[in-house]
Amino acid sequence: MAVLELKNIKKTYSNQDKPAVSDFNFSLENEEIVTLLGPSGCGKTTILRMIAGFIRPDQGEIYISGEKVAGRGIMKSPEKRNVGMMFQDHALFPHLTVRQNIIFGLEKKLSVDEQQERVEKLLKMVGLEGYHNQYPHQLSGGQKQRVALSRALSRNPAVVLMDEPFSSLDERMREVMRREIREILQKSKTPAIIVSHDREDAFSLSDRLAVMRAGKIEQTGTPREIFSRPKNRFVAEFASRSNLVELSGLKDTDDGRVRGHCLLGEVCLSPPKCVCQNSQECDNTLLAIRPDAFEINPEGNITAKIIDYIYYGSYVEAHLEVETSCENITIKTHLDRIPGQPGEKIRLSFREESCWILTE
Ligand SMILES: Nc1ncnc2c1ncn2[C@@H]1O[C@H](COP(=O)(O)OP(=O)(O)OP(=O)(O)O)[C@@H](O)[C@H]1O
Ligand SMILES: [Mg+2]
Repeated sequence: MAVLELKNIKKTYSNQDKPAVSDFNFSLENEEIVTLLGPSGCGKTTILRMIAGFIRPDQGEIYISGEKVAGRGIMKSPEKRNVGMMFQDHALFPHLTVRQNIIFGLEKKLSVDEQQERVEKLLKMVGLEGYHNQYPHQLSGGQKQRVALSRALSRNPAVVLMDEPFSSLDERMREVMRREIREILQKSKTPAIIVSHDREDAFSLSDRLAVMRAGKIEQTGTPREIFSRPKNRFVAEFASRSNLVELSGLKDTDDGRVRGHCLLGEVCLSPPKCVCQNSQECDNTLLAIRPDAFEINPEGNITAKIIDYIYYGSYVEAHLEVETSCENITIKTHLDRIPGQPGEKIRLSFREESCWILTE
């Protein structure tokens, strides 16, 4: 049974014309970690607030562990929903110690000894033993985040909700915390919904992603499915930052593949990697070529001019202008593989197995 289910949820804020969320159907399985990934303003926080019980959906139903918590005539208050919430800014009380912040999240009926025991267990789980008496201003960003997570987990919630948990951390800390949060959630067997507009957070942390646009889910799938088999133009551009080029003259080949022409030349793809099962029906098709599909290759049949490149440390993103079409493409490679400077021409090829045909 799903731990959490949202059915046909719709929400329009009173001062807005367009719904912030609509036709929203989603379910979360036991011990699953799912990220809602989408651009700013697409309704991610609104979804979390409806699950937590801070706002009421206009339509639809929400179930937690099989129990209806929102829906026609029903609106359970946040404290009756068995949900742990971790806010964007951690929301720790600055005048309370780590221990007191965590105790704040615990059930009030527990005895002092039981409370202490729970605090010990939670701090051990998040690797903060011995930090009981520190105040939030004495902690690093990552430590504050771990305290916030302990508080969110303190009541053994059915599900934890995290809104942009890494937004205030620097890049190094982000990497560490992604791994740690995943481990802590797995150890405590707590399913979670994480909200992010950062692809790396989403891909590295989640069992499954739901890519959102304008209040709706565009596609759900494992990180790998979303990355290599995006359903449409939006998911391809937003989630895998693919280059999209028009594909024409699609034909089935004798060996069961699909051949077509794009500005980078002839391509031939195997049907399992193709969305359109019958190439005769494919109109307005696009080829999505991920930036990592390109290889700098003196024998390659694409010639392009280097416009510029951005150095990201372990990789370089180069922007190129394709000679035959003057269209721009982005490739991902290593600095030592770039054989020229901006303005110079290079040759390249791309791996067809890292491409994907889109029909919408
Ligand atoms: N309290 C509110 N009253 C009116 N409109 C709101 C309110 N909260 C959010 N909105 C609007 O609803 C839409 C969705 O907002 P939401 O905060 O859910 O987006 P988000 O995906 O979390 O964005 P971000 O990534 O920037 O946090 C936006 O257009 C926003 O302006
Ligand atoms: Mg938000």
